[in-house]
Amino acid sequence: MEEYEMKVTKIKNGTVIDHIPAGKALSVLSLLELTGKEGYTIALVMNVKSRKLGIKDVVKVENLEINPNLLNRLALIAPEATINIIRDYKVYEKRKIALQDVVENILKCNNPTCISRQYNEPIISSFRVISKKPLKLKCNYCMRYLNESEVIEQIVERSKF
Ligand code: CTP
Ligand code: ZN
Repeated sequence: MEEYEMKVTKIKNGTVIDHIPAGKALSVLSLLELTGKEGYTIALVMNVKSRKLGIKDVVKVENLEINPNLLNRLALIAPEATINIIRDYKVYEKRKIALQDVVENILKCNNPTCISRQYNEPIISSFRVISKKPLKLKCNYCMRYLNESEVIEQIVERSKF
């Protein structure tokens, strides 16, 4: 049993996103489009000790099973996270996130003249993952780099409404 469990109780139904890099829990909430106004009970724990990561964040959302389609976006913010679907207090499903070597159709190239940004071109964005820690991507069309803070900015910005 991990130490933070003393501070946050187990949930009956919902989702636990575990092993989030320390300090990224708020970005994860943004990505999930959770503002607190939806009425879900949410527990957010930041900077707790973890054997695997040293220090980590954890997000628990009661009565919501997060959409698996969000996982590839989540991988960009929390590449080592684990998604636990909880049903009747038990871990019903555990999914490890994986950051693929190529990230397509999620991020926008920061080069305004990149061919992937031209509206008359039917080209989806495509980046190669150059480094996972710290995150660094390279556009497959114009070779422009995208760094971690630019990625987070795009993902968080997209989720605002
Ligand atoms: N959890 C919860 N409510 C439950 C069951 C589990 O909040 N009813 C949380 C646990 O606190 C933990 C995560 O879900 O943060 C995963 O639970 P579990 O698989 O039991 O823990 P570990 O074995 O430590 O997970 P891992 O191997 O992924 O580190
Ligand atoms: Zn480009």
